[in-house]
Amino acid sequence: MHILSIETSCDETALSIIRAEGDFPHATYTILGDALFSQIDIHREFGGVFPAVAKREHIATIVPMLEKALTQAALPSTPSILASEACETLQTFLLREPGVADRLIELHKAVGRPAIDLIAVTSGPGLEPALWVGVNTAKALGYLWDITVVGVDHMEGHILASIFNKNTLAPLTFPALSLLVSGGHTEFILMNDWSQYQKIGGTRDDAVGEAFDKVARLIGLPYPGGPEISRLAFEARERGLPAYATLPHPMLKSGDLDFSFSGLKTAVRYAIAEKILADDEKKAIARDFEDAAITVLLAKTKTAIEQYNIKSFILGGGVSANTPLRAAVAALAHSRDYPDLDVYLPERSLSTDNSIMIALVGHAHFARALSATTFAETIRANGNQTLANHS
Ligand code: KG4
Ligand code: ZN
Repeated sequence: MHILSIETSCDETALSIIRAEGDFPHATYTILGDALFSQIDIHREFGGVFPAVAKREHIATIVPMLEKALTQAALPSTPSILASEACETLQTFLLREPGVADRLIELHKAVGRPAIDLIAVTSGPGLEPALWVGVNTAKALGYLWDITVVGVDHMEGHILASIFNKNTLAPLTFPALSLLVSGGHTEFILMNDWSQYQKIGGTRDDAVGEAFDKVARLIGLPYPGGPEISRLAFEARERGLPAYATLPHPMLKSGDLDFSFSGLKTAVRYAIAEKILADDEKKAIARDFEDAAITVLLAKTKTAIEQYNIKSFILGGGVSANTPLRAAVAALAHSRDYPDLDVYLPERSLSTDNSIMIALVGHAHFARALSATTFAETIRANGNQTLANHS
């Protein structure tokens, strides 16, 4: 089957077309088309992502990205004439996304109806105005092509992205544990089987990616701060710069699987006070912060692995692009302490937001016999969706 997937939860407008052969989770996947427009340069001017700006950019780029993915995939298509009534219905699906219906109608006239069998769209979590652009476009396309649309969870996407290797999903041994670390999330998700998710811990305030971004802003680095902090931290380690500050390890000994990163960010703010930092001081504080964050993430990970007798550990989400975190987590695999532990990290290109992961979740939904809530009419964007309450 051919799946079109759409991701617009934050600042990437991403669409892909994937061929799935076989049943989830044993299928072989071929990426036929993959188009991604990153809004980072636009948001950098504002120092962060504003939902209304993200929405505007998704509206402007979603159909061009669809066209790009379709061109790459070069699927067979059948010509189809659109009745004026159908055009009106398309406009009603996209009332709040001016111009999108017109562009879809133009595209349909040019390319006809492509051989796509299923549409998967991120319904949450994320920025609601941004999510709605993807959801409404998916509904309109589902109507236009007369195919099923499933709303999928972005965080489930990050989990599957991490175990996706070239064209198959890794054969997980359960219980499996995911640590999801992104701009909006820091949480432990336990899986006792495929498609079963239970949250067993998470941040009580800021997500770790958010802390990277805020600390970056404190020391004058551009958005998104994660990669910038990491680059400076790398130089500090290379050159053996002395510590700038002794930072706390929040909740290290709290005995549970929860995190708190806002205190760490505040500690950085106090350490800097109002000082103008020299370049080497910025590098040192970036390293001190990154070390503290990774220390806590790793310690809690070990506690969770032991407590739940974990067989497979998965790191996912944007912060999993972080090199020292990847190294620390990779070292757990088949180590002296965890001889039987398999560890999975996403390919770097799949660690930040993308639509390939959304297609994988769409295929999983298809295997779950498409519960009634996944049909097009009922899909709603939900900024606060959680894996546990999404089925
Ligand atoms: O998953 P993602 O692309 O979007 C969300 O769903 O939030 O994650 C983005 C987050 C940002 O906070 C960004 O600063 C962080 O991931 N990030 C990193 C790195 N690359 C991206 N954090 C630390 N080190 C990195 N190399
Ligand atoms: Zn994400």
